[in-house]
Amino acid sequence: MFADPEALYRQTTAASRALHEKAVAVMPGGTTRTTTYFDPYPLYIERGEGCRVWDADGTERIDMLGNYTAMILGHAHPKVVEAIRKQAARGTGFAAANPIEVQLATLLCERVPSLDAVRFCNSGTEATMFAMRLARAFTGRPKIARMEGGYHGTHDYAEVSTHPAVAEAGSPDAPIARPDSMGTPDWALEQTVVLPFNNPDAAEAIIRREAGELAAVILEPIIGAGGVIPATVEFLERLRNVTRELAVLLIFDEVISFRVAPGGAQQLYGVTPDLTTLGKIIGGGLPVAAFGGRADVMELLDPRREPNIAQGGTYNGNPLGMAAGYATMTELTPDVYEDLNRKGARVCEQLTEVFASHGVAVQVNGAGSMLALHFTSAPVVDYRTMAAANKKRTRELFLGLVNHGVLMAPRAMGALSTPMAEPDIQEFIDAVDTVVAEQRPRWESES
Ligand SMILES: Cc1ncc(COP(=O)(O)O)c(C=O)c1O
Repeated sequence: MFADPEALYRQTTAASRALHEKAVAVMPGGTTRTTTYFDPYPLYIERGEGCRVWDADGTERIDMLGNYTAMILGHAHPKVVEAIRKQAARGTGFAAANPIEVQLATLLCERVPSLDAVRFCNSGTEATMFAMRLARAFTGRPKIARMEGGYHGTHDYAEVSTHPAVAEAGSPDAPIARPDSMGTPDWALEQTVVLPFNNPDAAEAIIRREAGELAAVILEPIIGAGGVIPATVEFLERLRNVTRELAVLLIFDEVISFRVAPGGAQQLYGVTPDLTTLGKIIGGGLPVAAFGGRADVMELLDPRREPNIAQGGTYNGNPLGMAAGYATMTELTPDVYEDLNRKGARVCEQLTEVFASHGVAVQVNGAGSMLALHFTSAPVVDYRTMAAANKKRTRELFLGLVNHGVLMAPRAMGALSTPMAEPDIQEFIDAVDTVVAEQRPRWESES
């Protein structure tokens, strides 16, 4: 008999199971966030501190995901808690501008040279939605080009070709726009141009063909949730050159990749977009996101001009989120990024060694302090190479790690946080080693 990670999970998570049984009566699938659901039922986490979380059964785990990369300082960082506490006591929301939004906006514009101005919103979804609208308004063109396998949230324009069935997605050089969700409107498919990631020739040819109707090209310079796949410098430079030539806006979605350097991935690559979207770390764990960029584009949001793009939002610039975000971002000095990235590179090396020692084919995709594991022997450089990986093994690894004290994303993506010290990292590596040793006989029998 092979070790069955699901059976052990069921045995050790009775409180989560009980909560789930209650939850399914009031929420579809017993959860309010698809990305936190996994089979047979999700973990219910009660608290976190540093790089550790405790589930409803009181079981402690290393948090290798940090709310999908958002918790870069770990949980309940004293300075962030203090900033939130202080602001909560002073009031949590006003129908007025507030001083902290000016501080956080200034910090972001100072750190990211391409940001002449920013606007806050509450989620990465809103940030990409507004950036796309801004691009359409600025250029007067309707279409948005995006990468197959990229992720930009859950609005209608975003729910296209993030995870298409490869058999229905056309040729790798000319992907077809496919809906990611039931209910994605036909117009979103018609107005979306899908580009192959890391394929400069094919992407450029499509952009040139569509240029007359194209408002923007949006991409993650490092695909995050879709498998931690960095763009090549050549790819980004090619996109920059062709979009500049054709007056199409280039939008970098740095909701995740902003954690790789003080100025985000655009700083690492030395490629400057017209617009940038941010989220996750800039809210210090609270729902904050932003979009920003060139002054002449952002100007369209200025209520002093007519016409302008109205950007309502009860919680835009919410003082609680601004306080948590500002406290977090001020902790993130250049040294902190360097240290995290060094640890990230080391973890990837160690993981590669572990899998090699077991003779299990895997791709360890790393970028800065993020990583993802793909069970395939071919390098994962785009959606199609990622989609070819063995997903069953990913699930068994994920559940096995949950059983051995580690929380990653069900798709085996992870992110480091600053409280992680060498012993924490070693604990993670040891857990991977144990799970691979347990699962290898099953994997060998199935291959
Ligand atoms: C690159 C990217 N863009 C946008 C989003 C959407 O952000 P949110 O979940 O805050 O709506 C995400 C979320 O993971 C993301 O990774």
